[in-house]
Amino acid sequence: MSRRVVCGNPRLIVIQNAIHPEPETAPPDRTAAGTLVGRLGVRSIVLVGMMGAGKSSVGRRLAARLGLPFVDADNEIEAAAGMTIPDIFAKHGEPYFRTGEARVIARLLDGGPQVLATGGGAFMNAETRTVIAAKGISVWLKAEAEILLKRIKRRGDRPLLMTDDPAATLRNLIEERYPVYADARFTVHSRDVPHEKIVDEIIDVLVGGVDPAGGVSPRQTSGKPSAMTVQPTPRAPTVVDVALGERAYDIVIGRDVLASLGARVAALRPGARAALVTDANVAGLHLGTARASLAAAGVDAVEVVVAPGEGSKSWRGIEQVCEAVIAGRIERRDLVIALGGGVIGDLAGFAAALVKRGVDYVQVPTTLLAQVDSSVGGKTAIDSPQGKNLIGAFHQPVLVLADTAALDTLPPEQFRAGYAEVVKYGLLGDAAFFDWLEANWQEVFAGGPAREHAIAVSCRAKAAIVARDERETGDRALLNLGHTFGHAFEAAAGFGGELLHGDAVALGMALAFEFSVRQGLCPAADMERAVAHLARAGLPVRVGDLAGEAPGVDLLMDLIAQDKKVKRGKLTFILVRALGDAFVADDVDPAAIRAFLTEKLAAR
Ligand SMILES: NC(=O)c1ccc[n+]([C@@H]2O[C@H](COP(=O)([O-])OP(=O)(O)OC[C@H]3O[C@@H](n4cnc5c(N)ncnc54)[C@H](O)[C@@H]3O)[C@@H](O)[C@H]2O)c1
Ligand SMILES: [Zn+2]
Repeated sequence: MSRRVVCGNPRLIVIQNAIHPEPETAPPDRTAAGTLVGRLGVRSIVLVGMMGAGKSSVGRRLAARLGLPFVDADNEIEAAAGMTIPDIFAKHGEPYFRTGEARVIARLLDGGPQVLATGGGAFMNAETRTVIAAKGISVWLKAEAEILLKRIKRRGDRPLLMTDDPAATLRNLIEERYPVYADARFTVHSRDVPHEKIVDEIIDVLVGGVDPAGGVSPRQTSGKPSAMTVQPTPRAPTVVDVALGERAYDIVIGRDVLASLGARVAALRPGARAALVTDANVAGLHLGTARASLAAAGVDAVEVVVAPGEGSKSWRGIEQVCEAVIAGRIERRDLVIALGGGVIGDLAGFAAALVKRGVDYVQVPTTLLAQVDSSVGGKTAIDSPQGKNLIGAFHQPVLVLADTAALDTLPPEQFRAGYAEVVKYGLLGDAAFFDWLEANWQEVFAGGPAREHAIAVSCRAKAAIVARDERETGDRALLNLGHTFGHAFEAAAGFGGELLHGDAVALGMALAFEFSVRQGLCPAADMERAVAHLARAGLPVRVGDLAGEAPGVDLLMDLIAQDKKVKRGKLTFILVRALGDAFVADDVDPAAIRAFLTEKLAAR
């Protein structure tokens, strides 16, 4: 039962999903699944039992039903070792395998909630049992020997059963293992019935027996700020907190964390409904995952889809989003969810600030720029014909969920542009992070742990500045490094996306470094490293790197003067003393800037 409403303006499509249909048509377990996901918090469901008990086939279906990721520990071990499990056994022996298995399971459990299927011998390891008890809810899929034997015979990949008498070997294993499996918190009998039936039984037994989780934020990384000290585990979401007293919130960063959206929302605001705002590009790529996750957690959601692009950050756009949110019966206790890049974050965040004098909202940023910058800090805005972001509000989100895997679908030029803002954090205040980026930037582009690390360090840097200066009266201005020059080039090119914001910022940062060197503030060697790194990543660093005709110096100076960072005839720029050491200079002589830009434009 879903209703699709196309508003008068074709730019806005509102699709209303009846997540809770009439009782007679509702699947029997939908509420149970939602309740269960809400109670799990970040804990995973860990399936234990013998090979052939159905851990993978049942686990996969259970995960789909709950809208959680399914993870097979054996696959992860094989990937980590770069060889098959029979090969690990043959080459290194069982004790070696068990140690590695314990380590991989511990790491996987830091990335919950998920449904995790473990190998038959995993639960026999005391260390593994302790980890599972701490971070998961164990369910033993208990099957009779005959059933197991029948199922296992079809496969040849089980090293422990490659003996002359597999039946006897299996009986021995059962004798040894079943008393230990009995330590699992729940037991469900695996037998020859459809997998979905076993899934129903698992959900039933867990809903009846799992107590609500205490929280949703495992703080598994240290709070140390230096880039060199934080080493993320590949599958564990990193949590950065934004310390704003009663408006404090978490930024959860990790691969595939989008699938946990529903569980996190349900845990944060039990019973709340949601308006899920996104743009048409993101809707085609990631809305399905968000929708499934919310549905599985029992969160009733209205979907609001706007046209992609800066044009939606308009009076017309905000009017339509606000009206769609109101039409979706979103009340003060409900949530707005912004799923998309900075445009959606700014637009949906501003709508959340306005509707009913303010409802809470969750940022689910899907561009690199949004993950490291716009989703954090609570600035929301739309554009006016007079300029960008002139109408807006400070409105902090209650949660930021940054799925680093969502960036895999981002056009490369968008990723590269967002990377300029990542480099910015190194250049403005963290020289060690800049060093790290010089060595690891390709890994950041490739994805994986380095990407998560770079995003986490960036968010931590922004969170620290925002916590010191929420309303930009002081050093939050440092975040504008490269932006005064950058905005001028961006505005000269037109705000229709001809020059991507990040590209303009990269050029602006290069110019800020060069100008600082010119003023005798910064060593030339630091400027050269900053410029070389931006250029290596494919970002523009010279006026000549920009496509199209260069703007004239008069236009640029006009635009710089219009920028809000101007006081009493003097210009305010963020300048640098060194790599990682930016400061606010509020007495910059306009004539010096004009001379500098004239020279740069001529050298193009
Ligand atoms: N509030 C703040 O503090 C702040 C800070 C910086 C920038 N901003 C604002 O952010 C906006 C720019 O953000 P942006 O660069 O994210 O632009 P955007 O939201 O327009 O996204 C860029 C493009 O990528 C698409 N897209 C988004 N996620 C995708 C994905 N995962 N896969 C494929 N395509 C995807 C979008 O549809 C769009 O076409 C500007 O309006 C700027 O003013 C705000
Ligand atoms: Zn920026």
